[in-house]
Amino acid sequence: MLGRDFARAAAYWNHEVVALTHADLDIMDAEAVWRACVREAPEVVVNCAAYTDVDGAEDDLVGATRINVEGARHVALGAAEVGASIVFPSTDYVFDGLKGEPYVESDPTRPLSVYGQTKATGEAETAAANQRYFIVRSSWLFGTGGRNFVETMLALGQDQGDVVVVRDQVGCPTYTAHLADALVRLIDTSAFGIHHIAGGGECSWYEFAQEIFRQANLEVRTMSMTTAELSRPAPRPPYSVLSTERTEAIYLPDWQEGLASYLAERTEGAVTR
Ligand SMILES: NC(=O)c1ccc[n+]([C@@H]2O[C@H](COP(=O)([O-])OP(=O)(O)OC[C@H]3O[C@@H](n4cnc5c(N)ncnc54)[C@H](OP(=O)(O)O)[C@@H]3O)[C@@H](O)[C@H]2O)c1
Repeated sequence: MLGRDFARAAAYWNHEVVALTHADLDIMDAEAVWRACVREAPEVVVNCAAYTDVDGAEDDLVGATRINVEGARHVALGAAEVGASIVFPSTDYVFDGLKGEPYVESDPTRPLSVYGQTKATGEAETAAANQRYFIVRSSWLFGTGGRNFVETMLALGQDQGDVVVVRDQVGCPTYTAHLADALVRLIDTSAFGIHHIAGGGECSWYEFAQEIFRQANLEVRTMSMTTAELSRPAPRPPYSVLSTERTEAIYLPDWQEGLASYLAERTEGAVTR
């Protein structure tokens, strides 16, 4: 999701973009990553490749580590080799969600899940491999070209007419096109370090689902449950709202606006296809 939107946004802002898919480059292959960096000699490398199956990672520490930790190191080192900066998107799941108020960049990480652990270690590997790093923590991404919560809700709502959604996890839904624009702005600065950039406002998954159905004009009976009742493999933070302590921070539009833009983008895509 994010890789595609970033490539589009960077091209729109007149950057020369080399967008590589998984088929083009496997970040687990250190040699291939190095060759790609030397071949393209970029000024910035944006590592949107990741093991993002949060529940699947619980039983696959080795697989998640190879991509989110070792792969992250390869890409950051490859970028450093050619003097490029590195962007490493990361996640609110590096936090345990027990702080009770929004997380800022300097808050200590304490991931609950294997996915969160591997992303936190990937952050450290990235920072150690390349001084010119932007670690950008974001959350609850939705956008075109990937499995996401909005698509899941729309499909369930259309098929079933009622859904049950978790009410005791609160975060910041983020539209990948908004995040991609922010990343394009960020790479033109030298504000290296950790950044929290997520959709404005906050909500529970339950509130997010209600807003999806409202904006999509779908009549869906939306019921709520607790995380304990849902019982998914990976533990998730109960309150992982991201805030920033940076003076020159980049803020995104509110998540409701991101949702409206995404729904409009989907409709336009369906019309032109
Ligand atoms: N999704 C979220 O809610 C969320 C929230 C916070 C942060 N993030 C972070 O934001 C970034 C982008 O997330 P996303 O949701 O846009 O991810 P995504 O849609 O799942 O895309 C991840 C991409 O990585 C590719 N990939 C996996 N293993 C690879 C490898 N070894 N070499 C090269 N490519 C590989 C995948 O290709 P295949 O599908 O072909 O394997 C896929 O195209 C990630 O760093 C993620 O951790 C995501």
